Amino acid sequence: MKVFVTRRIPEKGLELLEKELDEVEVFRYDRIPSKEEIIKGLEGKDGLLCLLTDKIDRDVIFSEPKLKAISNYAAGFDNIDVEAATKKKIPVCNTPGVLTDATAELAWALLFAVARRVVEGDRFVREGNFRGWSPTLLLGKELRGKTLGIIGAGRIGTAFALKSRGFDMKVLYFNRSKNEVIEEKLGAKKVELKELLKESDFISIHLPLTPETHHLIGRKEIDMMKSDAILINTARGAIIDEDALIDALENGKILGAGLDVYEHEPEVSERLKRLSNVVILPHIGSATLETRTEMARLAAMNLIKSLRGEKPDYCVNPEVFE
Ligand code: DGY
Repeated sequence: MKVFVTRRIPEKGLELLEKELDEVEVFRYDRIPSKEEIIKGLEGKDGLLCLLTDKIDRDVIFSEPKLKAISNYAAGFDNIDVEAATKKKIPVCNTPGVLTDATAELAWALLFAVARRVVEGDRFVREGNFRGWSPTLLLGKELRGKTLGIIGAGRIGTAFALKSRGFDMKVLYFNRSKNEVIEEKLGAKKVELKELLKESDFISIHLPLTPETHHLIGRKEIDMMKSDAILINTARGAIIDEDALIDALENGKILGAGLDVYEHEPEVSERLKRLSNVVILPHIGSATLETRTEMARLAAMNLIKSLRGEKPDYCVNPEVFE
């Protein structure tokens, strides 16, 4: 069995692939490969291990007749045409579970950073502006007793909610189904999106990107938010209409935002970069040593199992095994 890996992943994953398979070709540059480079790398391969930055569309999927399995080194899989893969009976695997806490922790890091103006403060000191304690310097927003709105209460949304316990927050959530865990442990209340947007002081997005969630937060939704609301997004950029968000931030319609993901990633709007009420990070939600190592192990095992004809631990189109 031969596989193509589109970028160097942590050694643990590569070691597993090398131990269990006949040939492992890793894209030799440390950058996102082009579509042509992915198709070239796939030539004669049975499996593909790709990243969320690789667009795995029909052309790629149908380019190699031998292709039998695709393993994404990510929990999200909006970069892959799953329908096309399913047509070809190719399992598409992902890595949920192992990045839950890392991503939830980063969402909190962003929330704190925006609420307490951490990045602005850091810049202020580095630029030599700190002349001593001041009664009105960089006043932020306190968390205790405030309302936390969680959009999407799956694994990461749940972990994010549970971490609010130290701050005595009232928790609202918008989700398709009832989340017994956060209802029991936090007294969280399931509400419609409109109510969540109107009532929350802090809003954090934890949904996958799908045609239904694309621009779920647009101009109309932002208008419903409190004027001192803080919006956090560690999920996928296109869930928010980024232009509408930037307009709102520029006009002081909401207090601030913490973003780890962007609508046109890796492009980040120059307008966004100019704003001091936003903290912007380079999509590092899962970027801890522990998590990335586990993701590499899981992505490799998903690919190995799929190529052996076994059901992998996480497959988004399990119907291909029927
Ligand atoms: C994922 O796995 O979908 C995350 O966005 C990676 O950090």
